[in-house]
Amino acid sequence: MNAFEFHNPTKLIFGKGKLDTLKREVPKYGKNVLLVYGGGSIKRSGLYDDVHALLKEIGAEVTELSGVEPNPRLSTVHKGVSLCREHHIDLILAVGGGSVIDCAKAIAVGAKYDGDMWDFVERKATPQDALPLGTVLTIAATGSEMNGGSVITNEKTQEKMGWGSPYAFPAFSILDPVLTFTLPKDQTVYGMVDMMSHVLEHYFHAETNTPVQDGFCETVLRTVIDTAPRLIQDLENYEDRSTIMYCGTMALNGMLNMGFAGDWATHNIEHAVSAVYDIPHGGGLAILFPNWMKYNLKSNPGRFKQLAVHVFHIDPAGKTDEEVGLEGIQALRDFWSSIGAPSRLADYGIDDSQIEVMAEKTVRFGPFGRFRTLNKEDVVEIYKMSL
Ligand code: NZQ
Ligand code: ZN
Repeated sequence: MNAFEFHNPTKLIFGKGKLDTLKREVPKYGKNVLLVYGGGSIKRSGLYDDVHALLKEIGAEVTELSGVEPNPRLSTVHKGVSLCREHHIDLILAVGGGSVIDCAKAIAVGAKYDGDMWDFVERKATPQDALPLGTVLTIAATGSEMNGGSVITNEKTQEKMGWGSPYAFPAFSILDPVLTFTLPKDQTVYGMVDMMSHVLEHYFHAETNTPVQDGFCETVLRTVIDTAPRLIQDLENYEDRSTIMYCGTMALNGMLNMGFAGDWATHNIEHAVSAVYDIPHGGGLAILFPNWMKYNLKSNPGRFKQLAVHVFHIDPAGKTDEEVGLEGIQALRDFWSSIGAPSRLADYGIDDSQIEVMAEKTVRFGPFGRFRTLNKEDVVEIYKMSL
């Protein structure tokens, strides 16, 4: 286990009816609020009206940025930064999923920076300040509600890249599982694949002696596997929505990976696909992760065996570690397919024509992956396995 410091400043407010706490939290930051939301799901669900009513009660001055895209775009971030300056915004309030929250984080740091926010993504500059950010989460998936990460797409250059900063943590996040009832089955599934992938990214690391962390990771994975089949049959089940919402936040708020850094190669490989084809992040991960695993099985078969036995209850008797590991990978593939996640790039109409272009994007900052370092040729192989 490595030395570490842990600090997560986000106040988490969880449970049915907690939207009302906006009245308590928002005035702490000032009067001028930039409300950031997506393509309209919050209008259809009634959440938009509820948020406005609460903000009206406390006399907030509300400016809106609507239409944040899934895979949020840099041009939308720029619009938000201009609105912050024009309206002297005190607090950004993101109401939506990971895309809305990630866009709001980029606006928050961009509003306090003289240059282009994209400099932070390209590692040309580091955020030194940010506007405060609050969130109301409507989809359990990314964990963005309680971390300092964000992923932005530069549509001009077809690049989709993550960045992060201690300044990008939300000050508060409101998680009412009821607000995820309207999420359709496919997005619910993508979200569950994404949170499982975050845990798997942690799980494949290069440290030794992480028994508690391993156990936490395995518990979250088993819990999603137990809950998902019930939830997709009953999308308005409060208990199951709560469980999944809690899993999504825990998967990427730093609690599972104290003392080590996970692999994170598959996310990089997926982001390059979404950059070129604009597919849902969770869908891309469902296709790519089992193939990353197969490709890397031989690097440390014991690790794959542990996953297979502890999470998928594979009987290891009389088998090599590699055989058990492979059965675990197949069990993951079968599980994701059973809940309706895609398994091939062809499911999104993606052929081999852009493989080189995508692979090149993944090595923009050099070879990557902490469990096993990958270069461009490795990525090409993983894409080919995923066709
Ligand atoms: O735009 P609206 O109309 O709101 O519709 C959204 C969107 O179409 C819809 N939706 C959200 N809540 C809903 C709902 N529809 C009905 N009822 C609700 N309650 O769902 C669609 C997907 O939303 P989006 O925010 O894109 O999903 P998600 O939360 O999965 O976010 C994906 C983005 O986050 C990035 C991904 O790369 C992708 O760009 N990630 C961010 C991370 C982070 N900040 O830590 C880590 C992740 O690994 C990930 O890379
Ligand atoms: Zn993810």
